[in-house]
Amino acid sequence: MKYLKTTILIVLCACQSTQVSIPKEPEIGPLGEQAMISTAHPLATQVGVEVLKNGGNAFDAALAVKFALAVVFPRAGNIGGGGFALYRMNDGTIGSLDFREKAPKAGGRDMYLDDEGNVIDGLSTKGHKAAGVPGSVDGILKLHDKFGSKALAELIQPAINLAYYGFTITENQAMEFNEKREDFIEINGADFFLVKDEGWKNGDTIKFVELAGTLTQIRDRGRDGFYAGIVADQIVKEMQRGGGLITEEDLNAYSARWRDPVTSNYRGHKVISMPPPSSGGIAVLQLLQGAEQYNISEMGHNTAQTIHLLTELERRVYADRATYLGDPDYYDVPVDMLLDPTYNKERFSSISLKKKTDSQDIKEGEVDVIESVETTHFSIVDPDGNAVSLTTTLNSFFGCKVYVRGAGFFLNNEMDDFSSKPGVANQFGLVGGEANAIVPEKRMLSSMTPTIVEKDGKLKMVVGTPGGATIITSVFQAIMNVIDHGMSMQDAVNATRTHSQWLPDRILVEERAFDPAAIKKLEKMGHLIERREAMGRMDCILVREDGKLEGGADYSRGDNYAEGF
Ligand code: DON
Repeated sequence: MKYLKTTILIVLCACQSTQVSIPKEPEIGPLGEQAMISTAHPLATQVGVEVLKNGGNAFDAALAVKFALAVVFPRAGNIGGGGFALYRMNDGTIGSLDFREKAPKAGGRDMYLDDEGNVIDGLSTKGHKAAGVPGSVDGILKLHDKFGSKALAELIQPAINLAYYGFTITENQAMEFNEKREDFIEINGADFFLVKDEGWKNGDTIKFVELAGTLTQIRDRGRDGFYAGIVADQIVKEMQRGGGLITEEDLNAYSARWRDPVTSNYRGHKVISMPPPSSGGIAVLQLLQGAEQYNISEMGHNTAQTIHLLTELERRVYADRATYLGDPDYYDVPVDMLLDPTYNKERFSSISLKKKTDSQDIKEGEVDVIESVETTHFSIVDPDGNAVSLTTTLNSFFGCKVYVRGAGFFLNNEMDDFSSKPGVANQFGLVGGEANAIVPEKRMLSSMTPTIVEKDGKLKMVVGTPGGATIITSVFQAIMNVIDHGMSMQDAVNATRTHSQWLPDRILVEERAFDPAAIKKLEKMGHLIERREAMGRMDCILVREDGKLEGGADYSRGDNYAEGF
C-alpha cells in the first residue's frame, strides 16, 4: 500500500494543538471496528469522531460536523446555505430531511430577466439577489432534535472554539481565498478580512470571530438564534444593503421538510437516495436500473465500452431530469414513472453498444457547462450502526460571495439552480423548464445525491460528493466500482471518473491515469472527449464483508479525511 504522507498543523483551540497525518492515495482507506466518519476536512472529521467516542450517536456527530464545516470549510460548509440529509437507523428505518433553500417571497419567474426577457448575466450567481432563504440551521437542528442524544450546547462548542480561536488553513484553502480575492473585494469591499494583500498561504491561521458569535446565538437560542433576533436582523440589513430579497418574514417561515427517500434495487442491493427537490436520487436509481441490464463487471472498469454505455444512459437520464424534475410541493414530479423498471427498460432500449446516439436526437437544447466542487458531503456510521449521509452547499465557491456583516458567514447563490428561463442553462449547464421555474417559496432543483446502500437487510455503503451536475454520475460510478468491479471503498473513490449529461453532447474525463487507447476508441465511435482535472470530492463508507468499516475519502482530489475507531 502506498501512503505518501503529508502533515498539517491543526489548532483545535488556543490551548491545544495536534499533528494529523493525511495519507495520499491509499488503496484501502482507514478501517474502523465500530464507527467511521469521512468529511471534507480533517478538523471536522476529528470533531465528529470525538462526539462518537464520547457516546454520541450519528445524528449528534452530524450536527457537530455540520457546524465545524461551517467554520473550517467556509467555501461550502455553511450556515448560510442548505442541503439534504439521508439516514438509515440500525433497525433498517430510513428517512430523509430536506433543508434546501427556498425562493424568497418577493422572488418570481422573471426576476433574473431584463426587459427583453433575456437572462441578466451573473444576477443569479453573484451578489445579494442570488441568495435563497437558508435552510441549513433549521435542518440540522431538526435532525438533531428528532434523533440526537446529546445537548446542542455540547455539540456546537467545538465549532465555536474553532471559529473563535482559529485554525490553520491548508494549501487548497489558501489558494481558494486568493482566487476569490477580486470577488470578495467587489462584493464585500477592499477592507474585507478575507482579502490579504500579501495573499494567504498554507499554514496561516484564520479566525472567524463574528461567526463564533452567531454560533453562540444558535447554541443559546436554538433556531431563533438564527431565524430571529440579532442574526436575522443582520441578514435582513445585509439584504437591504445590496438589493437582496430575503426578509424577516422569509426567515421566520423557513421550515425543513421530512421526505420519504426513493429506493430501487441493484444486483441484489437496495439503494436508498434523496427524493425531489433533489434530482440526484431519481437519476442515480434510473442509471443503476439501466446499468443492471448489462454485465458491467465483464465489460470492465473505464473501458471504452463501459464509458460508452454509461454515457448513453446518462444522456437519457439528464434529459428526463430537465423535463420532469422540480420541487414536489409545486410541481407534480412523476417519481413512480421515472423509477418504474418497465419505463426505464423502454427508455434505454434505443442504446446500441456499437453506436453513439446524438444528444440532439434525444432532446434539443444548447448549453455550456462549468463543473465545480463547492458543495460538501459527509458520511457517518456510529457504533450502533446508524448511518447519516449528508450533502450541503452554498452552490458556488463561497456562495453569492456576500458575507453577512456582523454575523460572519457567506450566503448561498442557490437561486441559480432554478431555471431562470426555459432552455437557458445555469452555471452547471443544466437546463430546465416549467418544473423548475422560480415561484415564491419554492425550492430549487438540486443534483445533490446523499445515498445509502444496503444488502440483505444490512447497511453496506454510505456515499456522496459535491460536484454540481457531476454529483449524480460520481455516486453512480462509486456504487458500481464497489458492486461490479469489487473495489475497496478507497479504490472506488480514487478511481478516475467520467461524466456526461445529455447536453452538451460530450464526455468529460478526468486526466489522472486514463487509458489513451480507451479514449481513442470512444473518439472513433464519434464521442467528443474533454479532459478535466478532477471531478467530485467523495466521502464514503463501506461495511466490508469482515464487518469492518472502511472510510473512502478523496485525499488526492481535496483535503478530505476519514477516520474510524
Ligand atoms: O444543489 C445542487 O445541485 C448544486 N447547488 C450543487 C452545487 C455543487 O455541487 C457545487 N459544487 N460542486
